[in-house]
Amino acid sequence: MSHELFEAARDAMSFAHAPYSKFPVGAAIRAEDGRIYKGTNIENLSFPQGWCAEPSAISAMIMGGAKKIAEIAVIAEKLALCPPCGGCRQKIAEFASADTKIYLCDEAGVQKVMTMEELLPFSFKTELA
Ligand code: THU
Repeated sequence: MSHELFEAARDAMSFAHAPYSKFPVGAAIRAEDGRIYKGTNIENLSFPQGWCAEPSAISAMIMGGAKKIAEIAVIAEKLALCPPCGGCRQKIAEFASADTKIYLCDEAGVQKVMTMEELLPFSFKTELA
């Protein structure tokens, strides 16, 4: 199952628009509906306007009608076990639970499995969530 998510993340990475960093990233979410949603990083000539692979995948999930991330795989061509950046951790957390699994990949497959709680401990929480 996690291998399928790895393959989806790797496929997503092939769509990267990363002409400035030359650092393609792919992300794939399995949502509570069992479906896989993919995303990649999309950069912009105005550098701060680009965004990461993870929010692209989250956007696909939301537009597919799902709301919960059961598991998510991330891969970067140039960095084995590419950890989601800080902002992405918060974005993933919005749709995850403490035990949501994060799969960090290299070119061969999933190499490290973490939970949301491990990836973003002591996270921002208020009475609104
Ligand atoms: N990037 C992601 O897509 N996800 C991350 O979690 C880390 C960074 C992208 C942003 C930018 O397009 C490129 O990687 C280099 O930072």
